Amino acid sequence: MSSPQRPLKTLERVLSKAGLGSRTEARQWIEAGRAQVNGVVVRDPDHWVDLKRDRVRFDRKPLTVRDRVYLLLYKPAGYLTTYRDTEGRPTVYDLLSDVGTFVSPVGRLDLDTSGLLLMTNDTQFAERVTNPRFHIPKTYLVKASVLLSDVQLQQLRDGIELLDGPTRPAEVRRVRDSGKYTHLEITITEGRNRQVRRMIEALDAHVLKLVRVQIGSIAIDKLQIGRWRMLTPDEVRSLDRNHEGYEDPRSNHTPRKKTS
Ligand code: URA
Repeated sequence: MSSPQRPLKTLERVLSKAGLGSRTEARQWIEAGRAQVNGVVVRDPDHWVDLKRDRVRFDRKPLTVRDRVYLLLYKPAGYLTTYRDTEGRPTVYDLLSDVGTFVSPVGRLDLDTSGLLLMTNDTQFAERVTNPRFHIPKTYLVKASVLLSDVQLQQLRDGIELLDGPTRPAEVRRVRDSGKYTHLEITITEGRNRQVRRMIEALDAHVLKLVRVQIGSIAIDKLQIGRWRMLTPDEVRSLDRNHEGYEDPRSNHTPRKKTS
Protein backbone atom coordinates (compact mmCIF):
# COMPACT_ATOMS: atom_id res chain seq x y z
CA MET A 1 0.00 0.00 0.00
CA SER A 2 1.33 3.45 -0.83
CA SER A 3 1.64 6.25 1.66
CA PRO A 4 -1.74 7.86 2.54
CA GLN A 5 -0.13 11.33 2.06
CA ARG A 6 0.04 10.81 -1.73
CA PRO A 7 -2.87 11.87 -4.00
CA LEU A 8 -4.20 8.36 -4.61
CA LYS A 9 -7.12 7.39 -6.79
CA THR A 10 -8.35 4.03 -7.99
CA LEU A 11 -7.55 3.19 -11.60
CA GLU A 12 -11.27 3.05 -12.36
CA ARG A 13 -11.72 6.62 -11.10
CA VAL A 14 -8.68 7.88 -12.99
CA LEU A 15 -10.09 6.62 -16.32
CA SER A 16 -13.58 7.94 -15.68
CA LYS A 17 -12.28 11.31 -14.48
CA ALA A 18 -10.26 11.57 -17.68
CA GLY A 19 -13.63 11.73 -19.46
CA LEU A 20 -13.35 8.31 -21.12
CA GLY A 21 -16.61 6.91 -19.78
CA SER A 22 -18.65 5.99 -16.73
CA ARG A 23 -17.07 4.21 -13.78
CA THR A 24 -18.91 1.02 -14.74
CA GLU A 25 -17.46 1.17 -18.24
CA ALA A 26 -14.00 1.95 -16.86
CA ARG A 27 -14.17 -1.19 -14.66
CA GLN A 28 -15.05 -3.32 -17.67
CA TRP A 29 -12.25 -1.86 -19.79
CA ILE A 30 -9.70 -2.37 -17.02
CA GLU A 31 -10.80 -5.97 -16.49
CA ALA A 32 -10.45 -6.48 -20.25
CA GLY A 33 -6.77 -5.45 -19.97
CA ARG A 34 -6.95 -2.08 -21.77
CA ALA A 35 -5.26 -0.06 -19.02
CA GLN A 36 -1.56 0.04 -18.21
CA VAL A 37 0.17 1.54 -15.19
CA ASN A 38 3.89 2.17 -15.65
CA GLY A 39 3.95 -0.07 -18.71
CA VAL A 40 2.23 -3.03 -17.02
CA VAL A 41 -1.34 -4.12 -17.77
CA VAL A 42 -3.44 -3.79 -14.59
CA ARG A 43 -6.78 -5.63 -14.51
CA ASP A 44 -7.79 -4.57 -11.01
CA PRO A 45 -10.12 -1.50 -11.18
CA ASP A 46 -9.38 -0.78 -7.49
CA HIS A 47 -5.63 -0.60 -8.06
CA TRP A 48 -4.31 2.57 -6.38
CA VAL A 49 -2.73 5.10 -8.71
CA ASP A 50 -0.54 7.98 -7.64
CA LEU A 51 -1.08 10.59 -10.32
CA LYS A 52 2.10 12.46 -9.40
CA ARG A 53 4.25 9.39 -9.97
CA ASP A 54 2.46 6.71 -12.00
CA ARG A 55 2.05 6.82 -15.78
CA VAL A 56 -1.34 5.57 -16.90
CA ARG A 57 -2.11 4.55 -20.48
CA PHE A 58 -5.37 3.46 -22.03
CA ASP A 59 -5.27 1.41 -25.23
CA ARG A 60 -1.50 2.13 -25.09
CA LYS A 61 -2.06 5.90 -25.34
CA PRO A 62 -1.25 8.29 -22.47
CA LEU A 63 -4.29 9.85 -20.81
CA THR A 64 -4.83 13.39 -21.96
CA VAL A 65 -6.22 16.17 -19.85
CA ARG A 66 -9.77 16.90 -21.01
CA ASP A 67 -11.36 20.31 -21.03
CA ARG A 68 -13.90 20.80 -18.34
CA VAL A 69 -17.44 20.63 -19.62
CA TYR A 70 -20.54 21.96 -17.85
CA LEU A 71 -23.96 21.60 -19.38
CA LEU A 72 -27.60 22.07 -18.57
CA LEU A 73 -30.13 19.50 -19.77
CA TYR A 74 -33.90 19.96 -19.72
CA LYS A 75 -34.73 16.47 -18.52
CA PRO A 76 -38.17 15.22 -19.51
CA ALA A 77 -40.21 13.08 -17.09
CA GLY A 78 -39.73 9.36 -17.76
CA TYR A 79 -35.91 9.55 -18.09
CA LEU A 80 -33.64 8.15 -15.39
CA THR A 81 -30.73 10.17 -14.03
CA THR A 82 -28.42 7.15 -14.30
CA TYR A 83 -26.08 5.92 -16.97
CA ARG A 84 -27.74 2.61 -17.73
CA ASP A 85 -30.89 0.93 -16.52
CA THR A 86 -31.16 -2.84 -16.04
CA GLU A 87 -34.79 -2.64 -17.20
CA GLY A 88 -33.83 -0.76 -20.37
CA ARG A 89 -35.73 2.42 -19.54
CA PRO A 90 -34.54 5.66 -21.17
CA THR A 91 -31.84 7.60 -19.36
CA VAL A 92 -30.60 11.18 -19.65
CA TYR A 93 -27.66 9.87 -21.68
CA ASP A 94 -30.08 9.04 -24.50
CA LEU A 95 -30.55 12.82 -24.85
CA LEU A 96 -26.88 13.78 -25.03
CA SER A 97 -25.01 13.71 -28.29
CA ASP A 98 -21.84 15.43 -29.45
CA VAL A 99 -20.76 16.41 -25.94
CA GLY A 100 -17.30 15.03 -26.68
CA THR A 101 -16.57 13.74 -23.21
CA PHE A 102 -18.30 11.76 -20.50
CA VAL A 103 -20.31 13.94 -18.12
CA SER A 104 -22.09 12.91 -14.91
CA PRO A 105 -25.26 14.35 -13.39
CA VAL A 106 -24.84 16.93 -10.62
CA GLY A 107 -27.35 15.49 -8.15
CA ARG A 108 -30.48 13.71 -9.27
CA LEU A 109 -34.03 14.23 -10.42
CA ASP A 110 -36.67 11.55 -9.85
CA LEU A 111 -37.89 9.56 -12.84
CA ASP A 112 -41.16 11.53 -12.86
CA THR A 113 -39.54 14.95 -12.34
CA SER A 114 -38.64 17.09 -15.32
CA GLY A 115 -36.49 20.19 -15.56
CA LEU A 116 -33.02 21.53 -15.07
CA LEU A 117 -30.25 18.97 -14.63
CA LEU A 118 -26.61 20.05 -14.58
CA MET A 119 -24.03 17.61 -15.94
CA THR A 120 -20.24 17.90 -15.87
CA ASN A 121 -16.94 16.05 -16.02
CA ASP A 122 -15.64 18.25 -13.18
CA THR A 123 -16.23 16.02 -10.17
CA GLN A 124 -15.03 18.67 -7.73
CA PHE A 125 -17.54 21.21 -9.07
CA ALA A 126 -20.30 18.57 -8.76
CA GLU A 127 -19.30 17.77 -5.21
CA ARG A 128 -19.30 21.45 -4.24
CA VAL A 129 -22.66 22.19 -5.89
CA THR A 130 -24.37 19.21 -4.24
CA ASN A 131 -22.75 19.75 -0.84
CA PRO A 132 -25.70 20.48 1.52
CA ARG A 133 -23.49 22.86 3.53
CA PHE A 134 -23.63 25.43 0.72
CA HIS A 135 -27.46 25.64 0.68
CA ILE A 136 -27.68 26.38 -3.04
CA PRO A 137 -31.33 27.27 -3.77
CA LYS A 138 -33.26 25.08 -6.17
CA THR A 139 -36.66 26.20 -7.47
CA TYR A 140 -39.47 23.88 -8.52
CA LEU A 141 -42.93 24.31 -10.01
CA VAL A 142 -45.37 21.96 -8.35
CA LYS A 143 -48.89 20.87 -9.24
CA ALA A 144 -50.47 19.55 -6.04
CA SER A 145 -53.34 17.05 -6.07
CA VAL A 146 -55.60 19.26 -3.90
CA LEU A 147 -56.26 22.93 -3.17
CA LEU A 148 -53.75 23.91 -0.51
CA SER A 149 -54.71 26.53 2.09
CA ASP A 150 -52.59 29.54 3.02
CA VAL A 151 -51.91 27.84 6.36
CA GLN A 152 -50.50 24.81 4.54
CA LEU A 153 -48.28 26.99 2.33
CA GLN A 154 -47.00 28.69 5.47
CA GLN A 155 -46.17 25.25 6.91
CA LEU A 156 -44.03 24.58 3.83
CA ARG A 157 -42.29 27.94 4.35
CA ASP A 158 -41.64 27.37 8.05
CA GLY A 159 -40.36 23.80 7.68
CA ILE A 160 -42.10 20.46 7.58
CA GLU A 161 -41.32 17.55 9.86
CA LEU A 162 -40.14 14.65 7.67
CA LEU A 163 -38.89 11.22 8.76
CA ASP A 164 -35.28 12.38 8.26
CA GLY A 165 -35.81 15.61 10.22
CA PRO A 166 -37.41 19.04 9.71
CA THR A 167 -36.91 20.84 6.42
CA ARG A 168 -35.13 24.18 6.29
CA PRO A 169 -37.25 27.31 5.65
CA ALA A 170 -38.43 27.50 2.05
CA GLU A 171 -39.72 30.24 -0.24
CA VAL A 172 -43.22 29.38 -1.40
CA ARG A 173 -45.50 31.24 -3.78
CA ARG A 174 -48.98 30.29 -4.88
CA VAL A 175 -48.90 30.56 -8.67
CA ARG A 176 -52.60 29.79 -9.18
CA ASP A 177 -55.41 27.50 -8.18
CA SER A 178 -57.11 25.68 -11.01
CA GLY A 179 -60.21 23.64 -10.25
CA LYS A 180 -59.19 21.35 -7.42
CA TYR A 181 -55.43 21.78 -7.80
CA THR A 182 -52.89 24.27 -6.46
CA HIS A 183 -49.89 25.23 -8.59
CA LEU A 184 -47.04 26.62 -6.54
CA GLU A 185 -43.42 27.59 -6.80
CA ILE A 186 -41.10 26.39 -4.05
CA THR A 187 -37.44 27.16 -3.48
CA ILE A 188 -35.53 24.85 -1.14
CA THR A 189 -31.89 24.95 -0.11
CA GLU A 190 -31.44 21.25 0.55
CA GLY A 191 -31.33 18.28 -1.81
CA ARG A 192 -32.79 15.45 0.18
CA ASN A 193 -34.18 12.41 -1.56
CA ARG A 194 -37.71 13.13 -2.98
CA GLN A 195 -37.83 16.16 -0.74
CA VAL A 196 -40.50 18.23 -2.49
CA ARG A 197 -42.77 15.20 -2.95
CA ARG A 198 -42.40 14.28 0.71
CA MET A 199 -43.12 17.86 1.84
CA ILE A 200 -46.37 17.87 -0.13
CA GLU A 201 -47.26 14.38 1.12
CA ALA A 202 -46.84 15.64 4.68
CA LEU A 203 -49.80 17.96 3.89
CA ASP A 204 -51.98 14.94 2.92
CA ALA A 205 -51.65 15.72 -0.78
CA HIS A 206 -49.36 14.48 -3.49
CA VAL A 207 -47.40 15.92 -6.39
CA LEU A 208 -49.00 15.51 -9.81
CA LYS A 209 -46.25 17.38 -11.66
CA LEU A 210 -42.80 18.54 -10.60
CA VAL A 211 -40.45 20.67 -12.72
CA ARG A 212 -37.11 22.08 -11.56
CA VAL A 213 -36.78 25.51 -13.14
CA GLN A 214 -33.76 27.11 -11.44
CA ILE A 215 -30.54 26.28 -9.55
CA GLY A 216 -28.87 29.28 -7.94
CA SER A 217 -29.18 31.99 -10.59
CA ILE A 218 -29.26 29.52 -13.52
CA ALA A 219 -32.74 29.24 -14.98
CA ILE A 220 -34.07 26.84 -17.59
CA ASP A 221 -35.72 29.72 -19.44
CA LYS A 222 -36.51 28.97 -23.08
CA LEU A 223 -34.53 25.74 -23.45
CA GLN A 224 -36.75 23.11 -25.06
CA ILE A 225 -37.58 19.94 -23.20
CA GLY A 226 -35.10 17.16 -24.00
CA ARG A 227 -32.43 19.62 -25.23
CA TRP A 228 -29.16 20.70 -23.62
CA ARG A 229 -26.80 23.65 -23.80
CA MET A 230 -23.38 24.47 -22.39
CA LEU A 231 -23.25 26.69 -19.30
CA THR A 232 -21.55 30.04 -19.81
CA PRO A 233 -18.36 30.70 -17.81
CA ASP A 234 -20.33 33.23 -15.75
CA GLU A 235 -22.93 30.61 -14.93
CA VAL A 236 -20.23 28.16 -13.81
CA ARG A 237 -18.62 30.84 -11.65
CA SER A 238 -21.96 31.81 -10.15
CA LEU A 239 -22.32 28.35 -8.61
CA ASP A 240 -18.77 27.48 -7.78
CA ARG A 241 -17.29 29.15 -4.74
CA ASN A 242 -13.84 27.92 -5.72
CA HIS A 243 -13.87 30.09 -8.83
CA GLU A 244 -12.95 33.75 -8.77
CA GLY A 245 -16.06 35.92 -9.07
CA TYR A 246 -18.25 33.48 -7.17
CA GLU A 247 -21.34 35.11 -5.76
CA ASP A 248 -23.29 33.47 -3.00
CA PRO A 249 -26.33 32.09 -4.86
CA ARG A 250 -28.45 32.73 -1.79
CA SER A 251 -27.96 36.47 -2.16
CA ASN A 252 -28.04 36.20 -5.96
CA HIS A 253 -31.32 34.34 -5.98
CA THR A 254 -34.19 36.41 -7.31
CA PRO A 255 -37.62 34.79 -7.18
CA ARG A 256 -38.97 34.13 -10.64
CA LYS A 257 -41.50 36.53 -12.06
CA LYS A 258 -45.14 35.77 -11.44
CA THR A 259 -46.69 33.80 -14.29
CA SER A 260 -50.37 33.17 -14.72
N1 URA B 1 -37.73 16.86 -4.96
C1 URA B 1 -38.39 15.74 -5.32
O1 URA B 1 -39.30 15.29 -4.61
N2 URA B 1 -38.02 15.13 -6.46
C2 URA B 1 -37.07 15.60 -7.30
O2 URA B 1 -36.80 15.00 -8.34
C3 URA B 1 -36.40 16.76 -6.91
C4 URA B 1 -36.74 17.38 -5.73
